[in-house]
Amino acid sequence: MKTIVLASDHGGVRLRDEIAHFVQSLGFVVEAKLGPASAEESCDYPDVALEACRMVLAASDRCGILVCGTGQGMAMSANKVVGIRAGVVGDPFSAQMIRAHNDANVMCLGERVLGAEIAKLLVRTFLSSEFEGGRHQRRVAKIDAICSGPSSTSL
Ligand code: RB5
Repeated sequence: MKTIVLASDHGGVRLRDEIAHFVQSLGFVVEAKLGPASAEESCDYPDVALEACRMVLAASDRCGILVCGTGQGMAMSANKVVGIRAGVVGDPFSAQMIRAHNDANVMCLGERVLGAEIAKLLVRTFLSSEFEGGRHQRRVAKIDAICSGPSSTSL
């Protein structure tokens, strides 16, 4: 994952902006920073999540980091988009495993849940973890088949 789509609603603006600086300092390219400019500009997280996910899917080396108050609304929205595998993360082990086992292309964080330093650790871990493939590939294919309709769920 080399380029990153960052997005937030009003509940995640501050953490999103902090993460933008952080990932750039790690050498990643921020492809887009979506959502309001300030926490005072209220918006609806599904709108931002959909726009961000479409951008994630537009390039193979791209992932998304979506921030709202809890991370939950962003994840619920993102997982409705075919091809997106998103997880809410609050600990480093999960940040690693959603890449290693679930091949997640989106990580969701909650600004009202996490401190900035733990959030940066989660971001660093997510971005440096690789999908292990093997038996996990079959399971990930089954996740994606659920989105493709009833005829595809017999994998
Ligand atoms: C906005 O107040 C809040 O509901 C949103 O940021 C998020 O936490 C939803 O899941």
